[in-house]
Amino acid sequence: MLKIGVLVSGGGTNLQAIIDKIVDGTIPNTKIVSVVSNKENAYALERSKKYNIDGKCIKPSDYSSRVEFSEALKNHFISLNVDLIVLAGYLVVLSKEFVSAFPNKIMNIHPSLIPSFCGDGYYGLKVHQAVINRGAKLTGATVHFVDEGTDTGPIILQKAVDVKDSDTPEILQQRVMKEAEWIIYPEAIKLFAENRIEINDNKVIIK
Ligand code: GRF
Repeated sequence: MLKIGVLVSGGGTNLQAIIDKIVDGTIPNTKIVSVVSNKENAYALERSKKYNIDGKCIKPSDYSSRVEFSEALKNHFISLNVDLIVLAGYLVVLSKEFVSAFPNKIMNIHPSLIPSFCGDGYYGLKVHQAVINRGAKLTGATVHFVDEGTDTGPIILQKAVDVKDSDTPEILQQRVMKEAEWIIYPEAIKLFAENRIEINDNKVIIK
């Protein structure tokens, strides 16, 4: 049984897409053992409650330093013996110590085709605004493993989405979620659950 921990900050539509594919059996032999938010009122925590998934808030302001916060978060997931940590719209930057405690065991989804429109400062609607400003005709989403850089870890899956002339960042964000994120995030977790992901020279090979 693959044990997953999920980190969230907001609405949790990606979390929902993952739960749906665990519940319907598409992602085999997998359980979400904990959903952790840095915000008490994150709607993602409501979603986890509905499925009797343990949810809690662990936030930096509850600790005297970022180091202590990071340690607490790390110990939480270690104590649960998680096999994979999934970032699903998590807006806190993880420390190097946290990341190095779970090598190639943390996944993230970024709402563009990495290496375009990624890295420091590219998050949320800013990504989609930058795509529109550049006049790009295609964008998409990328699921990748998290390493110590920003959006630099091995790429697991990507899916392209059209950009339309009439798009606003909000409209484009919705299309990218619906046509790419909610599809490839569960797919990447399924590959992980089936032990089909191999990493060689920072590149993912799907077996
Ligand atoms: C998504 O756009 C994702 O790409 C980004 O944060 C957003 C999270 O949305 N990392 P949700 O909370 O899953 O609805």
